[in-house]
Amino acid sequence: SPAGSEYDVVVIGGGPGGYVAAIKAAQLGLKTACVEGRGALGGTCLNVGCIPSKSLLHNSHLYHVAHDEFKTRGIEVTGLKVNLQQMMKQKEKSVSGLTRGVEFLLKKNKADYIKGWGQITKSNEVVVSGLDGAKSTLKTKNIIIATGSEPSPFPGVDVDEKVIVTSTGALSLEKIPETMIVIGGGVIGLELGSVWSRLGAKTTVVEYADAVGAGMDADMAKLFQKTLQKQGMNFKLGTKVISAKKNSAGKVDVVVEPAKGGARETLTVDVCLLSIGRRPFTQNLGLDAVGVKVDGKGRVITDAEFKTNVASIRAIGDVIAGPMLAHKSEEEGIAAAEYIKTGHGHVNYNAIPSVIYTHPEVAWVGLNEAEAKAAGIDYKIGTFPFAANSRAKTIDDADGSIKVITDKKTDKIIGAHIIGPGAGEMIAEAVLAIEYGASSEDIARTCHAHPTLSEAFKEACMATYDKAIHF
Ligand code: FAD
Ligand code: NAI
Repeated sequence: SPAGSEYDVVVIGGGPGGYVAAIKAAQLGLKTACVEGRGALGGTCLNVGCIPSKSLLHNSHLYHVAHDEFKTRGIEVTGLKVNLQQMMKQKEKSVSGLTRGVEFLLKKNKADYIKGWGQITKSNEVVVSGLDGAKSTLKTKNIIIATGSEPSPFPGVDVDEKVIVTSTGALSLEKIPETMIVIGGGVIGLELGSVWSRLGAKTTVVEYADAVGAGMDADMAKLFQKTLQKQGMNFKLGTKVISAKKNSAGKVDVVVEPAKGGARETLTVDVCLLSIGRRPFTQNLGLDAVGVKVDGKGRVITDAEFKTNVASIRAIGDVIAGPMLAHKSEEEGIAAAEYIKTGHGHVNYNAIPSVIYTHPEVAWVGLNEAEAKAAGIDYKIGTFPFAANSRAKTIDDADGSIKVITDKKTDKIIGAHIIGPGAGEMIAEAVLAIEYGASSEDIARTCHAHPTLSEAFKEACMATYDKAIHF
């Protein structure tokens, strides 16, 4: 039993931030424990986030292609249908395989996995209420808070995870709804809305803002919305939700109103997904008891070394400021462990990619055009549509475009925005360019294989300072 022995580091939370911090700390020779209360490692991301959503996105996309495109591609099938139970089984297989993989990695690196809910009782002490009912006290030199986030609630919308669901319920619906309303046209709404729309649900996204995509480049947001509309998704932008309640027939009455004011209307659907953002999770963590400060949004306040106002306690991931992304949490987890061991760490917040895993995918890094303008940067833009890319045409998957933003004086790439097949992989090239301070000419003069989708990125770079060849 770990009780009684003193740790160098106790990480609270076993998500991508926490488990990565624990592995790194152990690799650096620190005696480390990772406390996780949900009964499985991997956090939101592996259990009810990134991984199950990507499994459903992929398989619903395959169905959509088979249903809508096989015939024109010269493949004829009869009797095509969705077996939702089997699709869910596939999803669960990907989740359980990966969570067990993380458990193995902790063991391999000799970090203790402690199953239970951790509470900070002193600046150097964590009490764990074990899932087996036993309590244990961990003494430790350092604590890393990595407790993540949870869906933001909305007053008037009564979530039951059956007909009024958050992302968690939307990943496990028992049958395909005929009609669905998504509240919030951000990342979760568009990904999970796509899943159920592809499987046959008539889906409407209600969004308060005048654009989808929660702050993505305005040109790209418009193009993205158009693409999703073409696939059958409906949008009500500039619309606010007043309430969503289950009615006596077991359906959901969603009351909406134009954001600028006007007549209310009630939309009745089978399932309503609430996806208006996530908030930090620090319940029963004991922050008050030890005096760890949080900001107005409940996020743990940290300095550049991830230290809270209590010197022995650090925090990383969704529970602190910054984008709520798994890879951001991981970067911070590694840096926090390195700061503890060596006093040095590194996270470049200018080079954190965002990806929306719809089809086509949407990906971006760095500044969007409005941000470049607001920062007073003299910038140039290069664009290139996938309709002019030979590979995209070959595979008949040519919706989308690339927009590269450079600093006019230095030609350095300061932002890249991609909608298109494989955008989530392609963005890595732009991230690397920004990390290494590449100019768009550096990329345009780098040989890219033909015929590949990545040639489109090269040509968009070329178009910032010269003319593209194929458009
Ligand atoms: P979490 O993953 O939330 O992990 C925190 C863990 O701490 C949880 O397991 C929790 O049980 C545990 N915990 C909390 N309090 C305690 C306590 N007191 N004691 C013990 N354990 C505790 N991000 C991407 O980058 N790509 C994606 O494709 C993506 N898709 C997503 C899809 C969905 C539907 C959702 C909801 C999120 C998605 N995200 C995605 C976001 C991503 O899941 C989070 O950014 C990421 O999980 C944050 O990691 P974290 O370690 O900070 O916190
Ligand atoms: P989000 O912040 O992406 O989008 C929320 C949307 O809801 C915004 O467009 C907002 O304007 C809108 N909204 C807010 N209040 C509203 C209201 N009352 N009525 C109508 N619309 C309203 O949040 P989301 O989609 O819930 O996702 C949470 C986080 O999870 C994301 O910020 C992201 O960091 C992470 N995530 C990442 C994924 C990825 O990387 N592929 C996938 C899914 C989630």
